[in-house]
Amino acid sequence: MEAATGTAPGRRITPDDIRRRKGGPPIVTLTAYTYPIARLLDPQCELLLVGDSVAMVLHGHKNTLGATIEMMVLHGQAVMRGSKLACVVVDLPAGSYETSVEQAVATARHIHGATGCSAVKLEGGVDVAGQIAAIVADGIPVMGHIGLQPQSVEKEGGYKIKGRSDDTIAALYRDAEAVVRAGAFALVIEGTIEDVAAGITRSVRIPTIGIGASADCDGQILVTDDALGLTVDRVPKFVKEYAQLHDVVSAAVKTYADEVRNRTFPGEDHVFRNKGGR
Ligand code: KIV
Repeated sequence: MEAATGTAPGRRITPDDIRRRKGGPPIVTLTAYTYPIARLLDPQCELLLVGDSVAMVLHGHKNTLGATIEMMVLHGQAVMRGSKLACVVVDLPAGSYETSVEQAVATARHIHGATGCSAVKLEGGVDVAGQIAAIVADGIPVMGHIGLQPQSVEKEGGYKIKGRSDDTIAALYRDAEAVVRAGAFALVIEGTIEDVAAGITRSVRIPTIGIGASADCDGQILVTDDALGLTVDRVPKFVKEYAQLHDVVSAAVKTYADEVRNRTFPGEDHVFRNKGGR
């Protein structure tokens, strides 16, 4: 697969292209929820994730449990309109796939059909291997997500880093193996001790995409609003802010407010006049 950057392949990157990137150049991944952001990110990223983090970042919910199928469809459609080259993955929201294989397939079909996305993602390992296998058998590519699973925040009583004990390390390897065997094309590893994430990356045959994991993963993902410094609340330790757009937006809005209040906006360049100046 050619990288999205510079040598654009001229067609959308597929999940199989991503799978073949195992061990190759790092897979650049960011979240996208809207049309304009998808347009901006598409030339730089091989993978775009319409994450259920949209519930927190754009809709103000306290965690990702606020995401709904309708929300994922609307944002998935917007991102597909804005993206031409990246492989676009849409999250299955909490409560939409865990109950049964039939529920998982129905949700994946609905989101995949309504958005035209390249693949779906769901959280879990051994516990959702049946769901992953059934969705893949239905013809819809799946990306897995192990380690810290934000959809389990209430069950676990917080966001807990994984891989600190022998038991949890063994469970992580079992989860990774179950996701691979179920037929996923790639695997997000979130909030996991660095050398455990690196070890899983070496042990599985599909690409791993790290977030709060290891530079040795086959790719990296961040929530775009965090990476751009747009997030108002405190961001997790693993986030690097590549810009401080929060300050840029605040300063621009303050200047606009001042100019409206002192009537210097709109200026003569921003109004319509008849010829002759009237
Ligand atoms: O919802 C999301 O944004 C995610 C990523 C952080 C991996 O699942």
